Amino acid sequence: MIKIENLKKRFGRFQALDGLSLEINDGDIFGFVGPNGAGKTTTMRICAGLLKADSGAVYIDDVNVLGKQNEIKQYFGYMPDFFGVYDNLKVIEYMEFFAAAYGMYGKDAYNLSCELIELVNLGDKKDFMVDTLSRGMKQRLCLARCLIHNPSLLVLDEPASGLDPKTRVELKEILKNLQQMGKTILISSHILTELAEMCNAIGIVDKGKTVLQGNIDTIMNDINSANPIIVGVEGELDNALRFIKEQVEVKDVFVEDGKLSIKINGQEDAQLLRKLIMNDISVTSFIRKQSNLETLFMNTVGKSEVVE
Ligand SMILES: Nc1ncnc2c1ncn2[C@@H]1O[C@H](COP(=O)(O)OP(=O)(O)OP(=O)(O)O)[C@@H](O)[C@H]1O
Ligand SMILES: [Mg+2]
Repeated sequence: MIKIENLKKRFGRFQALDGLSLEINDGDIFGFVGPNGAGKTTTMRICAGLLKADSGAVYIDDVNVLGKQNEIKQYFGYMPDFFGVYDNLKVIEYMEFFAAAYGMYGKDAYNLSCELIELVNLGDKKDFMVDTLSRGMKQRLCLARCLIHNPSLLVLDEPASGLDPKTRVELKEILKNLQQMGKTILISSHILTELAEMCNAIGIVDKGKTVLQGNIDTIMNDINSANPIIVGVEGELDNALRFIKEQVEVKDVFVEDGKLSIKINGQEDAQLLRKLIMNDISVTSFIRKQSNLETLFMNTVGKSEVVE
């Protein structure tokens, strides 16, 4: 488990991280979201050992690795949100270069590089010059590079930005494979629909603080359970409206777009549906309004309440 605790970072007079905390379980694909400037890249750079935090801790299995470069290097694979310029280097040479940085040379380095190039579907580009690759290919190469020392934790800063839909699907599959190989993945992105499909947990940050975090299904279920039930009925609504208002579990009901929007206490959906049918109300549809990650994001950021 990775536990990021109370991270603080100031740039001059600007407090970029203001006590940010996250808990990431082993095997998670953890989506890290927040508006521009929220502090995602800063957090990731601190985790990767590229930036010094003013205070706080990053625990890996209860050991604080903050400031311990060797441990950080060993555990974390960091993919930055930009790709540097690499003139006169072939894809395979690029990988071998980074292998050498981790003390691997010769046949071992070559074989591992080939394996990782295959893993990110760049097998046919092995002898291409890095600078001739498309952006999506460079991003995949960058991912291959951060796997070279077999880290257990991957920290990926917006790996899907600027990718076409097909390449994004490919990336998603690669990440799922990595998860199955036992990696834990922290991934930042602004593409919320995709994060919702890919991640099992999320953390929303705003102004350097965590606003909400946890298992996505649990969070969405909690939110949806407070949403109204939207009911369609055949014919006149007045009769149904009168009947629904009288039910004890109903907090509020009104007509919206020709349907009944019903807020109820608790989770008595089935009981309410049964009552409607028993009372000869012809129900044509009965659906709990579903929120998505975008609604959650919009309702969460910009608010001052903060989760400790
Ligand atoms: N080296 C730096 N010097 C000064 N300010 C910095 C530096 N790095 C980051 N900041 C500031 O810290 C804040 C957080 O930046 P950060 O890059 O972590 O945001 P982010 O959440 O990654 O945003 P985005 O979604 O745009 O990538 C911003 O206001 C940024 O201007
Ligand atoms: Mg960023």
